[in-house]
Amino acid sequence: MRKPMMAGNWKMNMTVAGALDLARQIYRLVGDTSVVEQLLCPPSVCLHPLKAVTDDMPFLLGAQNCHWQESGAFTGEISPPMLRGLADYVVLGHSERRQLFGETDETVNKKTHAVLAHQLNPIVCVGESLEQNERGETSSTITAQVRAALDGLNDEQVQSLVIAYEPIWAIGTGRAATAQTAGDICGLVRAILREMHGAAVAGATRVLYGGSAKPDNIGAIMEQSDIDGALIGGASLEAESYAEMVRITARVYSG
Ligand code: 13P
Repeated sequence: MRKPMMAGNWKMNMTVAGALDLARQIYRLVGDTSVVEQLLCPPSVCLHPLKAVTDDMPFLLGAQNCHWQESGAFTGEISPPMLRGLADYVVLGHSERRQLFGETDETVNKKTHAVLAHQLNPIVCVGESLEQNERGETSSTITAQVRAALDGLNDEQVQSLVIAYEPIWAIGTGRAATAQTAGDICGLVRAILREMHGAAVAGATRVLYGGSAKPDNIGAIMEQSDIDGALIGGASLEAESYAEMVRITARVYSG
């Protein structure tokens, strides 16, 4: 049984004080639920203070990016060893990084290897653009991105990562994919995993949906058998909407 994950990607929002406040508010609203994995991905400067404050709360923490090298002359970058002990997960290949900061399938693959080598868990993001979607290239785009990101990984490594399907046209637009479409593409991701690493690995690896996920649609999304959680942007910045998504997911999984 794959444990569902509600991952809040706070993107470039929140000061340290705001991050601590949001985490405390969420904890007050949700309390201790062990049914759903609650992952908070704040800006990297907030990881250390959040870690200190959330140690006795049921949160895991994630970084939003990192470099593939361990150290060196890479001004402004953060390396996997720096994240050890502060983060459990690292989001890699988010479409905003691909579109705005030159991330490629090749760098996503290098980062995935580096993160795993330092006992952190990658959340590898894939997703097609509106143009690719309209040209009927969703499946081929997702297949190519998943294959490239996972190139050279062994079965054990693949099971410890998470893949997030985030169609670019659904991110921040209020226009989520339908639960059915999201479920189908997450199913495609699982089929690719099966082809590359066999049924056991495909059955154990979590696949998330992201793109305008919110309290209104999370129930239907989480009903999809191939969807194991959500990567949430805007709706994770408000304690009540994130908490509600955790509660709804807990209900879907306990009912
Ligand atoms: P929104 O939930 O704001 O659409 O963002 C999705 C996302 O990019 C999460 O990584």
